[in-house]
Amino acid sequence: MASVLVLYHSQEYGNTKQMAEAVAEGASEAGADVALVNTNEHRYDAEAYRDVDAVAFGSPDYFGTIAGGLKVFLDDWYIARKKDRRGLGDKPFGLFYSHGGGGSARGPLEGFFGRMGTQVGETIESSGAPSEAVLTACRALGRELVGNA
Ligand SMILES: Cc1cc2nc3c(=O)[nH]c(=O)nc-3n(C[C@H](O)[C@H](O)[C@H](O)COP(=O)(O)O)c2cc1C
Repeated sequence: MASVLVLYHSQEYGNTKQMAEAVAEGASEAGADVALVNTNEHRYDAEAYRDVDAVAFGSPDYFGTIAGGLKVFLDDWYIARKKDRRGLGDKPFGLFYSHGGGGSARGPLEGFFGRMGTQVGETIESSGAPSEAVLTACRALGRELVGNA
């Protein structure tokens, strides 16, 4: 069974959380074992990332970039990988983000996470609370990730 991680930050309204849950739903429907982790609640253990087959990263736009909790994960991942690369290299990944109307985090999101492997699908964007169309795209991303795991 494929192991899929949905690692996201959501703190203000739950907008990014709704998107993350839809990605997780799609991945579960496709038969994956899914871990859903909000970096606002937990610091994700970069060692656990070694066992992940595919991953989705989701962030709110904070000052035109990713949320600090996700940056902490990237820092932890980088340091763990310097010690031992096994399981921390190339993985299929998907991206999603929400913003308050300004929405300039796409560049930093794709830039930071581009180093994690090969992107699956397009980056999904939501202005404020996700619409049904956005949630449908998130579910499809979850299914697609499993197909690439
Ligand atoms: C600290 C902070 C900085 C933000 N900066 C921006 C910004 O630069 N551009 C923008 O469009 N929205 C910005 N927002 C709005 C959030 O990106 C938006 O409300 C998002 O949907 C919140 O996601 P969440 O409900 O999952 O926490 C900011 C919100 C916070 C709390």
